[in-house]
Amino acid sequence: MTRVAIAGLGTVGCGLVSLLEQRGGQVARGERVEIVAVSARDKNKHRPFSTSRYEWYDDAVAMARSSSADVFVELIGGEDGIALSAARAALESDKDFVTANKALLAHNGGELARLAEQHSRSIGWEAAVGAAMPIVAAIRHSLFANRSERLIGILNGTCNYILTRIEDGESFETALAAAQAQGYAEADPHADISGLDAAHKISLLSALAFSTPLALEQVSVEGIANITLDKVRAVARNGYCIRLLAICEAVPDGLSLRVHPCLLPIGSRLANVSGVCNALIYQGDFCGQVFISGDGAGGNATASAVAGDIFSIARGRKIPLFGLPSANLSALPFCPLQDIISPWHLNFRVRDQVGIVASISAVLRDCGISLASILQDGSADGDADNVSLFLYTHRASTIAIDRALSLIDKLGILQSAAFAIRILEMNEDK
Ligand SMILES: NC(=O)c1ccc[n+]([C@@H]2O[C@H](COP(=O)([O-])OP(=O)(O)OC[C@H]3O[C@@H](n4cnc5c(N)ncnc54)[C@H](OP(=O)(O)O)[C@@H]3O)[C@@H](O)[C@H]2O)c1
Repeated sequence: MTRVAIAGLGTVGCGLVSLLEQRGGQVARGERVEIVAVSARDKNKHRPFSTSRYEWYDDAVAMARSSSADVFVELIGGEDGIALSAARAALESDKDFVTANKALLAHNGGELARLAEQHSRSIGWEAAVGAAMPIVAAIRHSLFANRSERLIGILNGTCNYILTRIEDGESFETALAAAQAQGYAEADPHADISGLDAAHKISLLSALAFSTPLALEQVSVEGIANITLDKVRAVARNGYCIRLLAICEAVPDGLSLRVHPCLLPIGSRLANVSGVCNALIYQGDFCGQVFISGDGAGGNATASAVAGDIFSIARGRKIPLFGLPSANLSALPFCPLQDIISPWHLNFRVRDQVGIVASISAVLRDCGISLASILQDGSADGDADNVSLFLYTHRASTIAIDRALSLIDKLGILQSAAFAIRILEMNEDK
């Protein structure tokens, strides 16, 4: 029998208790999985199960050290504090460790991986990236023989929910309030909106897929705070939608790690991912493109992934946190975002005057940026004096686009701040 201690009995913890109470004796086929101890902040809080069935600990670290469990499950959250102390205590006490906490692993995964290896223990973290979407297992097992080339993911359900609500005609603020009302976004949604949560996840996946040490500090991060209804409507008229993408790819100068909003052609696979759903395209040298999708949040969906890790451990599966032992991970150089090349969409609001398009085109030419198409829309806001210019460029580096935007700003012709966004190249999302 595999004995489990669960720290954190909130959305995910309660889902996990419910799942294990229903399936603990069956799913592992001969291996019984049983909860023996639980911990949360408030013993007297009402929960959808009776905590009196299990040994209660006020202190999760004490439970990690002293309980009779074989597997310690951390569902508290936070990159350090009690979650980190409990993780260390569990591994030092020769317990396997399972968590849904991406912040904890993105900041401390290297240390915890080494600790697990010293104690011959496993760390299960499927739920930390994409909840029910089984991407960690896929890369650690089925896709492991491939040389990874590129991972492109929608890894933050809250942002995806907000962006698809905006597509349905809501303002950013209304869509965010709806995400909070549904329980998708935290009371403080900063980590989601800023792209930090997706950065945690792609840093973990990149270490796993490219066998490198964790490098959260190398992820360039841009969130969705400046994506407005006007911008979403404007790009939709030209056949695109906006998604927050987390990307990790091998480029000639090493590895590029980044999170930013991107234009995708409407109807493409990632564009079709709506609401809180997560999705990822994994591209490897032998497997080609593999598309995985699933519920990226929610108590039951996340508990499903946590339980999967527990049952894997119960069946004796032990794989290092990032696929290889820590000593075998090797660092790659990182390519800065400014050198990353892609097609761009640029949106300028300007006076409706002769010569303005020529002035902008001249700046782009001087910065080595080639235009693919240009459209003018004078209909917006019933504003007869101004027009919107939508420019679509061929491939250009971030540094060239930044320089062009700065020079165009100095022309004194913009009626509002320019908007620039990368376009995912078609062959990346067939
Ligand atoms: N919710 C999701 O959809 C989802 C999806 C993927 C990953 N995750 C990750 O899963 C983890 C848990 O998320 P959640 O949504 O379940 O959080 P939550 O609902 O806020 O629950 C947190 C739990 O931790 C307990 N807790 C807080 N401080 C504690 C302490 N000092 N000692 C022991 N327990 C303590 C709380 O106790 P009380 O109940 O007594 O207050 C609560 O039961 C996080 O790392 C999160 O990022 C969540």
